[in-house]
Amino acid sequence: MTETVLLVGGGGRGHAIARALEGTDCELYACAENRNPGIARIATGFETLETTNSSAVTSYAEEVSATLAVVGPEKPLEAGVADALTEAGVFAFGPNADAARIETDKAYQRRFMREHSIPGCPAFETFEDTERACEYIDSSETDLAVKPAGLTGGKGVKVIGDQVNRDEAKQYLRENDYDRVVLEERFVGEEFTVQAFVANDTFRATPAVQDHKRAYEGDEGPNTGGMGSYSDAGLELPFMTEEEYREAVRILDATVEALDDYTGVLYGQFMLTADGVKVIEYNARFGDPEAMNTLPVMNTEFLDVLVAAREGEELPKLSFAPRATVCKYAVPEGYPEDPSGGTRIAVDEESVRRAAGDGSGDANDAQLFYASVDEREDGIYTTTSRAFAVVGIAETIPEAEAIADDALAGADEGVRIRHDVGTEALVQKRIDHANELRGD
Ligand code: AMP
Ligand code: GLY
Repeated sequence: MTETVLLVGGGGRGHAIARALEGTDCELYACAENRNPGIARIATGFETLETTNSSAVTSYAEEVSATLAVVGPEKPLEAGVADALTEAGVFAFGPNADAARIETDKAYQRRFMREHSIPGCPAFETFEDTERACEYIDSSETDLAVKPAGLTGGKGVKVIGDQVNRDEAKQYLRENDYDRVVLEERFVGEEFTVQAFVANDTFRATPAVQDHKRAYEGDEGPNTGGMGSYSDAGLELPFMTEEEYREAVRILDATVEALDDYTGVLYGQFMLTADGVKVIEYNARFGDPEAMNTLPVMNTEFLDVLVAAREGEELPKLSFAPRATVCKYAVPEGYPEDPSGGTRIAVDEESVRRAAGDGSGDANDAQLFYASVDEREDGIYTTTSRAFAVVGIAETIPEAEAIADDALAGADEGVRIRHDVGTEALVQKRIDHANELRGD
């Protein structure tokens, strides 16, 4: 039976999901706030709508007779879109709002870890009163990570001793007066991501990826949703051992066990520290950009994962091409603090095609993913979020990096790119840092 899949979400991750479904036995429909030209090209139908409006999403699912839905971003999950789809009789690959609290409520997330004795949990306290939180900052002898409990698009966390000092952290809390904040032990180390597919008590991990949160080259500037990311040809990254990767997978597995009946992607953000692997956070969805590293090298059909999940079957075992990937995002000038949205940009698809090579089957590739841009009659416009990304795919990280950079030739106008993502120098810095942590 040909499936009819509804994709919810129009970012780079959404385009990666659409491309993973392209050419498989399904007809794709998509809905998002922005008209993503990459998704629109693949999909049979594309509707612009408010993706946190559950009834708008379910109406569209019913209109197109969707047999499956994939919910990409966290906001619709938080708004209960997966619950509403399920209620309307459409299987949703994505957790219900309650299960998504593992991402959407950081206070719940840490309490959950503590209650279930999941390894890698920091010491933490939660506060509803800003002044009490400030007192705690004053009384703490060690550095803390300051986290609003709710969703902030990856931009709400301030780390004392890294981005801010104690006074700045208190000022930040007072200025924003969040309803609830988590103050937790600061970890020092190298961050990495492991995503897993979860359904019907089965759990399938994907290769590790490293994202780059900081806005500017050399890991400077404010945190962003992620400026770019890389993965290696195997499961782990150059700065970690296979055992360290396995430890992250064990933590995810223990989390899934404790979650009980979770469906969707569980994303673990980890920190490799001198004391082993620690949990920075969980997300209830694919990472963005990480989905663009993972899905293009997955040999197993994503549609098979979705159908097995719906049918109550074991998820298929995953297989990945032994290829490294490097993803670089182009973001609007001023992103994330003062992004200049609404600018018309030229995306040079021809240089991506050139960088992809001659299609001779040498398995080198360059792929373009449109993100939060809006296609209008007279061209492609930026929004206030990340605009587009290119991914280089090759046998090694340096080769993949060179391909990604070639694909971006001439793409600097009106956008900003961290060209250092995946470069040998930056990857070596990660390796040196991890070795230093281990005391090598
Ligand atoms: P999050 O929104 O939880 O992903 O946090 C954003 C960023 O803040 C992470 O990618 C880390 O760089 C940093 N961060 C979060 N929690 C901690 C922590 N406990 N220790 C050190 N850094 C952290
Ligand atoms: N790459 C970070 C995120 O997806 O939240």
